[in-house]
Amino acid sequence: MNHSETISGVKFFSRKEIPLEMHKVKVVQQLQLVPVERRLQAIQEGGYNSFLLNTRDIFLDMLTDSGTNAMSDEQVSKMFVADDAYAGSQSYDKLEKSIKEVLGKKLILPVHQGRAAENILSIAFVKEGSILPMNYHFTTTLAHIQKNGGNVVELYKEEAMKIKSNHPFKGNMDCLRLAELIKKEGRDKIPFIRMEASTNLIGGQPFSMKNLKEVRAIANEFDIPLVLDASLIGENAYFIFKREKEYENSSIAEILIEMCDQADIVYFSARKLSSSRGGAICTNKKELYDKMRDLVPLYEGFLTYGGISIREIEAMAVGLKETIREDVVGQSPAFIQYMVNELDKLSVPVITPGGALGCHVDAKQFFPHIPQNEYPAGALVAAFFLVSGIRGMERGTISSTRDINGNEILADMELMRLALPRRLFTLSQVEYAIDRLHWLLLNRDIVGGLRFTEEPPVLRFFTGRLEPVGDWPQRLIEKFKKDME
Ligand code: F0G
Repeated sequence: MNHSETISGVKFFSRKEIPLEMHKVKVVQQLQLVPVERRLQAIQEGGYNSFLLNTRDIFLDMLTDSGTNAMSDEQVSKMFVADDAYAGSQSYDKLEKSIKEVLGKKLILPVHQGRAAENILSIAFVKEGSILPMNYHFTTTLAHIQKNGGNVVELYKEEAMKIKSNHPFKGNMDCLRLAELIKKEGRDKIPFIRMEASTNLIGGQPFSMKNLKEVRAIANEFDIPLVLDASLIGENAYFIFKREKEYENSSIAEILIEMCDQADIVYFSARKLSSSRGGAICTNKKELYDKMRDLVPLYEGFLTYGGISIREIEAMAVGLKETIREDVVGQSPAFIQYMVNELDKLSVPVITPGGALGCHVDAKQFFPHIPQNEYPAGALVAAFFLVSGIRGMERGTISSTRDINGNEILADMELMRLALPRRLFTLSQVEYAIDRLHWLLLNRDIVGGLRFTEEPPVLRFFTGRLEPVGDWPQRLIEKFKKDME
């Protein structure tokens, strides 16, 4: 067998590290690329916020992998045999069985999406003055914890903040700091420790099994529950398989079970993990389950549907089983690594090594002339949309919140995330994105910053509106049109 074909299930060409799709296209959605003048109008109408764009103006939607991964034929077919019932649905039994098989947990609370799980976890466990240590926060996690009076302490290692690195596990927690924090604050203030698989906001970077086990040992020592955000657990398991020597002969299925075994509670957004809707909180500990159970009918729906449509529950059940396949969970990381490698060769500053969910461009280096309080990552998303029709997501200061005195908190990283959902895009579409990003880099001096015109107090990045500082968008599209003629 050709050596290059053996790279961990996702097949590659021998000439070049080109990821080879292990699926074919069966159903398609027509796309359109609207003229650059319309793109300018669209971004103006959307207040320079990519969340406020409409897909009719978007060519490739790289906003997120949430609810946008392509489904398999088996998932779609099972949606038609769904057992629609308010209570006691057999479709729900299938979900329970899949979760037990794939994640090893038998007590399950279904919720309509990941943040609903965070709402329930926070109401059940977080109190005024609670301290929640974690490898890194996610926007919705932080918002729910703060809403219930808790404070988040991030215990990432120095490497996590390096854009260019070859560290295989930038999502690791600093265990020394964890132990110190618990000793200083006292275990009673800490309702749980949270580990996030394929840490989203620092570029989809995984943690190692070794690190997870070290965190588990500390959780045992101080008798504090360990909560695992498993929304991107499939990709994290894939990276453990690829990058952690001790696991090179393990299957993804074995790694997933071993990861979940370390946690007292596993919760996830199924929108990223397995299907286009849904989520769940899972545990094997009855006392923890009981603290949360009654909140599910109150906020979500009855215990056998949790606010998710029964059809989606069928898709979740199948999708979870597909998560144990290397060529399924490795597909998006392989495309991301390809994009990262190509951009790196063109000197476009990107987070390395490639992680899960998307390619992350460092806006601080891309636009060294834009001060952080003029939102370089937001400006990059807007400028990139203008020159490509591609929608990315700002993951920087706009995605942070102000402190209690109303001062801006400058984000650790200013990133544009270009999500590559599982099995969604073709390699030529990825090449187009690379090409347009390179053009933008060569013309970066034209681009300026943004400022808020309307700024909501909570999760402002979703609905806030901004405007450009100066007339750079007009100048950018003029130069673009000239070069493309
Ligand atoms: N945890 C992680 C790690 C996530 O990435 C997300 C969502 C959630 C929780 C919340 O789940 O959206 O189903 O309510 N991430 C999406 C993204 C929104 O675009 O990265 P949700």
